[in-house]
Amino acid sequence: MKEYYDIVSNIITDDRFKELKKDTHHNTNKYDHLIRVSKLSYRIAKHTKANVKEVTTAGVLHDFFHGGRKDAQANSYLNHPYTSAKNAKECFDINDNEAEIIKTHMFHHTFFRSFLPFINPDEKVKIKDGKPKSKEAWIVCLSDLMVSAYEGLRFNIGGKMALYILFICNFINLR
Ligand SMILES: [Fe+2]
Ligand SMILES: [Fe+2]
Repeated sequence: MKEYYDIVSNIITDDRFKELKKDTHHNTNKYDHLIRVSKLSYRIAKHTKANVKEVTTAGVLHDFFHGGRKDAQANSYLNHPYTSAKNAKECFDINDNEAEIIKTHMFHHTFFRSFLPFINPDEKVKIKDGKPKSKEAWIVCLSDLMVSAYEGLRFNIGGKMALYILFICNFINLR
């Protein structure tokens, strides 16, 4: 993982980035979430011959906003990708491709929201605008979805209990 740390070290050691340890995110903190997503994105990029530097940089900065999603309009489900891209441009030397990857990382939410309107009903969504436009953008979007699901199950006791109950019910049914 030396290559991974060479890419992210100037970001993850920055005080503005370390501040994210204070923000709760998917039952963990935003700093840890960003490290997980960027590591998974890095690994997938290596296997798929995608641009490793752009995927890893965008992965580690995709949720680079301070506070919770409900604390400010700029932090909302569909606005925070744009806020994160803007913050990342201001604080770090990121290129336009990396900013674009950050802006479309919530496509999974946009997609589900388009046919399940009761999810986050206050925000307008446009599939076309939120769709990842490159292989690199798809990698970060899918990594974020997978890591979020993992964190939801690992750190959410209610979710864990539901899984155990499901497992036990399945076991009983099979007997
Ligand atoms: Fe996000
Ligand atoms: Fe995320």
